Amino acid sequence: MKFNKKRKNYKINCMSLRLCWDDFPEQTDDKAFLDNLLLKPEEEACNNSDCNKSIADSILSSSVLIKGDNYPVLQLMKDELLGKVNVIYIDPPYNTGNAFTYKDNFSTSDDRHSAWLSFMNRRLKLAREMLSDDGCIFIAIDQSELYVLKLLCDSIFGEDNFVNDFMWLHGKGKKDTWSRTLQQNTLCYAKNKTKLKSFTEVESTDWAKTNADDDPRGNWFSGSVSFTEKRSNPKHKNYYSITSPSGIVWTRQWQKSREEMERLLAENRIYFGPAPEYNSVPRIKIFNGEQTEVIPRNIIDCVDSTRKAQRHLDKLLGVKGVFDNPKPVELISHLIEITQMKRDAVVMDFFAGSGTTFEAVAKVNEADGGTRRCILVQSGEVVETNNQFRTIFDICKKRCELIAEKYKQTLEVWKLVIEAAPSVECLRSSSEA
Ligand SMILES: C[S@@+](CC[C@H](N)C(=O)[O-])C[C@H]1O[C@@H](n2cnc3c(N)ncnc32)[C@H](O)[C@@H]1O
Repeated sequence: MKFNKKRKNYKINCMSLRLCWDDFPEQTDDKAFLDNLLLKPEEEACNNSDCNKSIADSILSSSVLIKGDNYPVLQLMKDELLGKVNVIYIDPPYNTGNAFTYKDNFSTSDDRHSAWLSFMNRRLKLAREMLSDDGCIFIAIDQSELYVLKLLCDSIFGEDNFVNDFMWLHGKGKKDTWSRTLQQNTLCYAKNKTKLKSFTEVESTDWAKTNADDDPRGNWFSGSVSFTEKRSNPKHKNYYSITSPSGIVWTRQWQKSREEMERLLAENRIYFGPAPEYNSVPRIKIFNGEQTEVIPRNIIDCVDSTRKAQRHLDKLLGVKGVFDNPKPVELISHLIEITQMKRDAVVMDFFAGSGTTFEAVAKVNEADGGTRRCILVQSGEVVETNNQFRTIFDICKKRCELIAEKYKQTLEVWKLVIEAAPSVECLRSSSEA
């Protein structure tokens, strides 16, 4: 349908796409209250006034686990970590109304969506400031708040910086009378999409069904190995010529170095189209069983289910069911890996839960020899039903210590503490921060 710009007096259907909610303030919005709080390494917490070490100093060489409410923790870290965090993964409470190990219910207030949005808005704004220019954030969520979260993130990060919703198929699905929901969502936003590297995933090929040149190595499919002449950069080091068996010269920017291309040609891995013309754009032959780099799919079905992740955690801690719904380690390591972020990236998770993100980072480091470091924040939320661990922070700390030992990672434990003489109310609300 064509829109008639000249038409006069046409009716405008007006609906604001902005998200509106009632703000639920928090204690540390009050600067005077925030001024009472400090971050300190655990062993020196509370009494040692000489401790001037900063989080920024610590993350140069170590991962850091911080006990405290993430809002004041982020407020206190913001200036030091401005633009220094490369990847953020968070798995906040989804606001399902359920009673898990952790509180997942914002309905004590009369408007649970507003309460949840106020909570997330404060934290995501601070998170954005800490991201590096080429950084990105992944936010796990389900349908309870997915649709409002998308609008909230559009307003904080900008709609243009939305990368995708990476959907994890987490098992048999969450069922109700009408359907089974198979996915949990992971919204991904860039700090600045023009500076975010393209995402890549390594895939194993097993679908090639043809063998156009009867190659004795078996079936293959062809993949792109060059840029079109128009998109080629003549100054690029991979700009050179190759010649087909029929003498056609192809000059352009290749995705392989000259040496690698020579090897591929010698191994008959470059296909120039059918003989005797050999006149198609040269492409690389990829055989079944080989690994290739592809643009990642937004459906993740190659990692463990919730149930398996739970079993993994139980085994690691040697106790059954101490924490509900931990994420699979492979889910988070997959997300870190597809970003292609540098090997000494700083990864942050300020809803650390059982500490899965730390294990994921340790595994990625082990796989590629990287020195990525983690900043984890977890509150001292009390565990109601378990007597082995008093708080979720204790669960997280135990897991992180075990993982640090297994993967030879260094870990510092920090605390949010009250420095100045606090009021009685301040002490009460922060004692389990
Ligand atoms: C869904 S769980 C995260 C699970 C985690 N991804 C894992 O695999 O174990 C959310 C966590 O955020 C924590 N949390 C909730 N509000 C918090 C806050 N204001 N500050 C710090 N942690 C908080 C909860 O205690 C809970 O452990």
